Amino acid sequence: MITAQYFIANWKMNVPALPVWVRDVSQAMLGREAQVVLCPPFTRLSAAQMVLTDTGMALGAQDCHAQENGAYTGDVSALMLRQVGCTHVILGHSERRAQHHETDAMVRAKVACALAHGLTPILCIGESLEVRESGDAEKMVTQQLLACMPDMDDDDEIIIAYEPIWAIGTGKTPGCDEIEAMHAAIKKQLHKRAPLVYGGSVNIGNAADILALPSVDGVLVGGASLDAAQFATIINAGK
Ligand code: PGA
Repeated sequence: MITAQYFIANWKMNVPALPVWVRDVSQAMLGREAQVVLCPPFTRLSAAQMVLTDTGMALGAQDCHAQENGAYTGDVSALMLRQVGCTHVILGHSERRAQHHETDAMVRAKVACALAHGLTPILCIGESLEVRESGDAEKMVTQQLLACMPDMDDDDEIIIAYEPIWAIGTGKTPGCDEIEAMHAAIKKQLHKRAPLVYGGSVNIGNAADILALPSVDGVLVGGASLDAAQFATIINAGK
């Protein structure tokens, strides 16, 4: 049974005052069952690890390589992420799939490597606007989930993020009924009970409605997580 809701901050740029962000977000967590995961750029992981100590927040990265070690100049492995204090890693984000040509098979290999190193993968799945408009979104997203999961019997060791591509960074979100329908379709595929979060233009105006949905175990927040006050408001909008 999942009690705490997840609030995953996916920083796509540096927040200069990291200690201030952590202080303000920690205050919002007081008295709430909120599981906060901060996922800054790689260059900020070790500084973040130091300021997160004793805050109850977890540290995540935004990608890792599918191999533990090897000749992969410029890549970062799951093992390296563990060594810098990460417990989580975002995998299969649609920006990586589009810009780095990551296939479902590559994402599955990364999920397997992350699990082997004790990291919790935050597996992103979601449809394009074209697929949404064709009426095939649920079929496509559930197929993507199955293709990216090394073993569905391990599905309680990961977090799934449903992120419609057309909602990321656009200010558009699906209707609450569409989120519920997609989450129900995803949950039907799960053998155990992976937490299922929603991501894509979550902000202070829509967070309460999204977080109130019975199928929503939390949110993955990009743009609005950069501002501590906005992210704190989103945490306070939780159940
Ligand atoms: P957004 O980003 O909240 O800015 O839409 C979401 C994401 O990073 O996936």
